[in-house]
Amino acid sequence: MNLYDILNKATAKPHALSQEELMFLLEIRDEKEMQQLFHAAYGLKLRYTGKMVSIRGLIEMGNVCAKDCFYCGIRKSNPNVERFQLDREAVLRMSRWAWKHNFGSIVMQSGEMESEEHTAFVESLLRDITNMCNGELGITLSLGEQSEETLRRWKNAGAHRYLLRIESSSEEIYRAIHPQNHSFARRVECLKILRKLDYQVGSGVMIGLPGQSAAQLAGDIEFFRKMDLDMIGMGPFLPHHDTPMGKNVDFSENFKRQQLELGLKMISAVRLQLHNTNIASTTALEALRNDGRELGLLAGANVIMPNITDPEYRKNYKLYENKPAVNESSDDSIRELTRKVAAIGEEINWNKRGDSPHYFARH
Ligand code: 5AD
Repeated sequence: MNLYDILNKATAKPHALSQEELMFLLEIRDEKEMQQLFHAAYGLKLRYTGKMVSIRGLIEMGNVCAKDCFYCGIRKSNPNVERFQLDREAVLRMSRWAWKHNFGSIVMQSGEMESEEHTAFVESLLRDITNMCNGELGITLSLGEQSEETLRRWKNAGAHRYLLRIESSSEEIYRAIHPQNHSFARRVECLKILRKLDYQVGSGVMIGLPGQSAAQLAGDIEFFRKMDLDMIGMGPFLPHHDTPMGKNVDFSENFKRQQLELGLKMISAVRLQLHNTNIASTTALEALRNDGRELGLLAGANVIMPNITDPEYRKNYKLYENKPAVNESSDDSIRELTRKVAAIGEEINWNKRGDSPHYFARH
């Protein structure tokens, strides 16, 4: 096995690599080889989306959560978070801001809640946002596991994409990082329902979890392929001191560099294997390095999700430590992002939904 052959094979057609070859890519240590990997994946990104970056304005709607994931800062049993829930006016105001600032899409994200009240709240919000912008904004939901009926109501009310990370496709890891009553099977079932309802479906994993092997990460890529996903959102695992998994992690420069590198290699490996899916360059990369999201783009990602939540709420939505832009206004965030994207020779795809080419290839 050598890098040159693997990259040639992968760029020639999708789904070309074996598990061993994916592992080979994820295990690259040599700096020069790593750059070759990123470069090949970036070339594929250019083939499918050109020098364009799609953006989605991320609205963190609330941090009330029924789940108790061992890694997440807003887990139910963390008593040190001030819980909040944006009201209708606040979400509408942020959505209008996005629309006025030429965003083609927004993402509505919150902790997981399942109740008729919550379903109805989101449903009416979706109708309000759609009316406000004359249906011009793409709307992605990231609201956790929900029943088929709820997901159908939200689809009918105007949502057309859904993000639900599997977190790890290895059931062994999934069990190790969640309480017993969190079900891997239900999460997979939800992803299947989303597909059936004709959402553009996104999922993803955390990268660099304790004890996670290259084989398991290669398995994650195989899971993405099998599930025929339209969008992938992945990020390096980052410790949060108020969580069971964040207590004993040494957040050293060395740890940060390793997590960043593995995160970037995973983006490249996914691009090389899946070719035409949307891949997000996530905030977790930026938490590790100031220019982390740009590095993600140069490693093959094509989507960025700048936070457009009002700063007063951002501090209460810390899933991990070092969360960037907590005190920054949305105007500042977007000015800074435009500059950073231009600095790597890419351009923001203003006023475009930036749908997944994979979704249309499937239809
Ligand atoms: N490190 C990295 N990512 C995290 N997420 C939650 N907690 C952490 C953490 N400590 C990610 C999960 C979730 C997404 C919204 O944020 O993958 O799906």
